[in-house]
Amino acid sequence: MRLNIVCIPGDGIGPEIVAEAKKILDKMALVYGHEINYKDVLMGGASIDAYGVPLTDETIAAAKAADAVLMGSIGGDTTTSHWYKLAPNLRPEAGLLGIRKALNLFANLRPAVLYKELSDACPLKKEISDAGFDMLIMRELTGGLYFGERYTTEEGGIRKAVDTLSYDEKEIRRIAIKGFDIAMKRRKKVTSVDKANVLDSSRLWRRVVDEVSADYPEVKLEHMLVDNCAMQLVKDPAQFDVILTENMFGDILSDEASMVTGSIGMLASASLNDSKFGLYEPSHGSAPDIAGKGIANPIATILSAAMMLRYSFDLDKEADAIEDAVKNVLKKGYRTVDIMTEGCRQVGCKEMGDLLADEII
Ligand code: IPM
Ligand code: MG
Repeated sequence: MRLNIVCIPGDGIGPEIVAEAKKILDKMALVYGHEINYKDVLMGGASIDAYGVPLTDETIAAAKAADAVLMGSIGGDTTTSHWYKLAPNLRPEAGLLGIRKALNLFANLRPAVLYKELSDACPLKKEISDAGFDMLIMRELTGGLYFGERYTTEEGGIRKAVDTLSYDEKEIRRIAIKGFDIAMKRRKKVTSVDKANVLDSSRLWRRVVDEVSADYPEVKLEHMLVDNCAMQLVKDPAQFDVILTENMFGDILSDEASMVTGSIGMLASASLNDSKFGLYEPSHGSAPDIAGKGIANPIATILSAAMMLRYSFDLDKEADAIEDAVKNVLKKGYRTVDIMTEGCRQVGCKEMGDLLADEII
């Protein structure tokens, strides 16, 4: 198969981790007889420095022409980087929000898995971490507060800022369908998270999710308020299979879920539209503090590449091979510094990539 992949290495540790993901994809292509065409483009801070804007039409066009996009991470230190002295619509994050919208990537899949080998990293009590967990947060990605009308003004000498949270039923239905579809391939449980005791948008969310659930009699649906969900994630994470939620709740809960695994450097994500096209990126940020030191954990990006093979190219066997390679390397005791524990062997970003590539045979 021929795979046309656009890469956005991005900022901070992005270029280092994307280089390792390419190494793994190249090895996969060699072993399984595929051909990969890469095209590297800029976005975020790197694009600001080169073109003055975080996202160019050329980057959007290149992404649209590809089968899938593999991204590292974008952004810098928000207190010190010169990018954050720019107007909000010119900062690195605006590029990310812009490409999600331009490519209609409304479904964001964020798995949070506690790997057996890394259960020591889980900050929860041992009784809880021993049970393990494997959940997927299905976050709506192109609506809600992050895309609503917003402005800052001054009325009678009082500064005022307004953000708008709105969802229509079509936006809710399409993400709910994605959530139920994926639940059918997993443990058949959906927890829809909202704030229906306060928000109108959440009350509509709940009604539409109920309607969609009628088409999935095998899937158990429960509704949970977002504040309760934040507690349940640390109290009993094993209860969750698919968490279906709107944009901002998903942003916050997915960070919480990743922290509960204790190893955010391991967590992949996929952002999909209605076709097979997707943008794949690690759940973690650009970690500017460790950029260029060669110590970043490339596994989240490598697992994102595996998700890309699975969702955009239907290459399940190849995706399995990458995921197995990760498990094997962990089993052999190799760790990057972020997941290092006593008795294991610490390796850098490149070395981790080499070890993983060697496992794909
Ligand atoms: C994420 C990030 C982004 C988001 C930011 C950088 C705009 O936090 O992907 O979760 O909130 O969507
Ligand atoms: Mg976030």
